[in-house]
Amino acid sequence: MNVYGEHYRTIWLKENNPNVVQIIDQRHLPHKFVIEDLATVADVATAIKDMHVRGAGLIGAAAGYGMYIAALHAPKESFMESLAAAGEKLKATRPTAVNLAWAVQRQLDTVDAVAGGIDAKIQAARQTAQAIADEDADYCRRIGEHGVAIIEEISRRKNGDPVNILTHCNAGWLAFVDYGSATAPMYAAHDKGIKIHIWVDETRPRNQGARLTAWELGQHGVPHTVIADNVGGHLMQHGLVDLVITGTDRTTYTGDVGNKIGTYLKALAAHDNGVPFYTALPSSSFDWVMRDGLKEVPIEQRDGTEVRYIQGLHDGEIKQVLLTPEDSPAANYAFDITPARLVTGLITERGICEASEAGVLGLYPEKR
Ligand code: MRU
Repeated sequence: MNVYGEHYRTIWLKENNPNVVQIIDQRHLPHKFVIEDLATVADVATAIKDMHVRGAGLIGAAAGYGMYIAALHAPKESFMESLAAAGEKLKATRPTAVNLAWAVQRQLDTVDAVAGGIDAKIQAARQTAQAIADEDADYCRRIGEHGVAIIEEISRRKNGDPVNILTHCNAGWLAFVDYGSATAPMYAAHDKGIKIHIWVDETRPRNQGARLTAWELGQHGVPHTVIADNVGGHLMQHGLVDLVITGTDRTTYTGDVGNKIGTYLKALAAHDNGVPFYTALPSSSFDWVMRDGLKEVPIEQRDGTEVRYIQGLHDGEIKQVLLTPEDSPAANYAFDITPARLVTGLITERGICEASEAGVLGLYPEKR
């Protein structure tokens, strides 16, 4: 993905000092482009918890690099114990995105299996962190290749008129290492010359749509319009949305989609108006154990401050402004579950499937 014409990923090892991880600190976007150094496990944990990095794929990649940093600093005599403790610390940061636990476990399994000494284990942790990041980017690119067919088909039906796609939150390249999940088919369509226009839900309370999705679509030259969170249903009733594509933080192997709060309402409106509703995800965002999303997926509740205040640029400075009465309490449910029955299909790196156990396991037979 290009940032002011330069290619970036969202996370990488520092040039000339591979003991340090660098990230784009997303708290400052779209107003400031800030790169942050992470040198300790505590730095990585804070970056995930306080959302300097966020989005399922990127949380997973950050955890992968965090485990590599843990390996660099782990004492020889209690190497694996120290690594396991770092894994617990990282897993405690955010509960909903399954990529986090998946990346930690992948690191623990890989490093444990290395027979050589500590140096070989550290080397393996570094290679695994890199592999998690590279795979994430590659899988998202492939999601784009599969998902573009859906947009192409609608574009044909509309005789080349712009395809209006609604998306919620940010499941873009900022939520992954590159390309994004929901945005990958959009970028692929745009790059093929297919006319598209994206309705970007603002996504209160943290405004990932208004701040991040709008910014990255703009960087790629994709036409888009930011809308308040409650607008989607109205647009669908008036035929102004051809397709909804969202990402997910955790989708059960039965097809229930856990995603940013408000996704469920968009799915209900889409269902009522006959608008196709797709969720795009790499296999690292599937939960292969949970059957019932509503009962089992942990829903993060964040501090009410995020609801009570809103962030923006004022006189060249990023500021928080109080929105509610001083003493009104606020609840901050960060995710919701869209039942599989409301999901038209899942776009994965292996292709598109029905949001059902049969559909998902048909694409991933090794998980049966
Ligand atoms: O709280 P966030 O910003 O980490 O949540 C991200 C989302 O919920 C996105 O909508 C996304 O679909 C999941 S990340 C691909």
